[in-house]
Amino acid sequence: MKNTLTSAVCAVALLSAGAAIAEPKAEVLHWWTSGGEAKSVAVLQKEFSDNGGTWTDMPVAGGGGDSAMSALRARVLSGNAPTAVQLKGPAIQEWHEEGVLADISSVAEAEGWAEVLPSSIAGHMKCEGTWCAAPVNVHRVDWIWANADVLEANDIQMPNTWDEFNAAAEKLQAAGIIPLAHGGQAWQDATVFEAVALGILGPDGFRKAFVELDEDTLTSDKMKAVFDQVRIMRGFVDPNFPGRDWNLATAMVMNGEAAFQIMGDWAKGEFLAAGKTPGEDFLCASVPGEGFLYNVDSFAMFDVDGEDSKAGQELLAKLIVGPSFQKVFNLNKGSIPVRTDVPLDEFDSCAHLSAQDMAASGESGALLPSYAHGMALRGAQAGAITDVVTSHFNSDMSSDEAVKQLAAAIANSL
Ligand code: BGC
Repeated sequence: MKNTLTSAVCAVALLSAGAAIAEPKAEVLHWWTSGGEAKSVAVLQKEFSDNGGTWTDMPVAGGGGDSAMSALRARVLSGNAPTAVQLKGPAIQEWHEEGVLADISSVAEAEGWAEVLPSSIAGHMKCEGTWCAAPVNVHRVDWIWANADVLEANDIQMPNTWDEFNAAAEKLQAAGIIPLAHGGQAWQDATVFEAVALGILGPDGFRKAFVELDEDTLTSDKMKAVFDQVRIMRGFVDPNFPGRDWNLATAMVMNGEAAFQIMGDWAKGEFLAAGKTPGEDFLCASVPGEGFLYNVDSFAMFDVDGEDSKAGQELLAKLIVGPSFQKVFNLNKGSIPVRTDVPLDEFDSCAHLSAQDMAASGESGALLPSYAHGMALRGAQAGAITDVVTSHFNSDMSSDEAVKQLAAAIANSL
């Protein structure tokens, strides 16, 4: 009798456990809409549905994610946050302070994230000691991309100094080629500016300026030299640049209309999606100077109701940091895995260069967060810098005036 009763109780328990099994679902807000980006996000969608999840896509077009972040604000303000959001850098902690993020520590602990993520990157994923975001990749920002045939035909090597870059650009211009493919959007101006700044200020100067907001560095002669170089580069851009999307600028390099682009390695994702081969069709090199500017994409989970959504968040977080996703996604995206235990043998030479430089920069103290891609500063400060950078780029503002405005903008934003 006792046995029969126990089995009956077990059966009921099993049944109700079965009934309670949640069906993971997620509405995912992201800005991965270009060719290479869409291919990459499809990898995540597939893994999610292969593991029983139902994905609702919420793509918000716009490189750099400014439009996606406006869409996020509107959704959170209306009390209807998406389940998972592409979010990074200090913006993660800013949203945590609003009290709207979910704690994903149970997944992070079960999956041993602390053992497989570099501690500098793990730090960005934590909010007051708990895990509040799942990292996807490491993008490097300070790259120059080039059309290999165009350089060869004009007898030009990848530049090792900004003077070499300027000389190559003048030669190309004289030959009727657009030296620098660029899109006139504030975040793209900021991307070029910070790459030049890393080269000219050096890693310590970059940290003082864009992490510590040190006024002496922001107004120094070296910072003036950064604006001088950007002014020269403005002259290497074609007249149709205003408003151009970054991937259209990459396409100009691909088809030989332009020679160079300064852009993070999501540009490599575009070259690869178009079937181009590094070292043959296109070349990659870090910009002149020392250091490594990292930009780590990550997803934060918003505090939403419902067991299905919570199960979706857990599944998504687990898959994102899982080794299989880390490999396949990053092969498409142009970035490198954030996990330190993913073999890189299927990755190309640009990815190997990135991984080597990241390790060396980590040791020499030259591994730095990108300000232009929201890794170094809170939104108000990064925005204040970008306003000055973009108004300098789009006017005849002198470098003296630019550094004055930079210091004033930072002072007002604090
Ligand atoms: C993101 C990349 C994205 C790029 C262009 C960057 O800020 O980190 O993932 O591909 O913007 O949209």
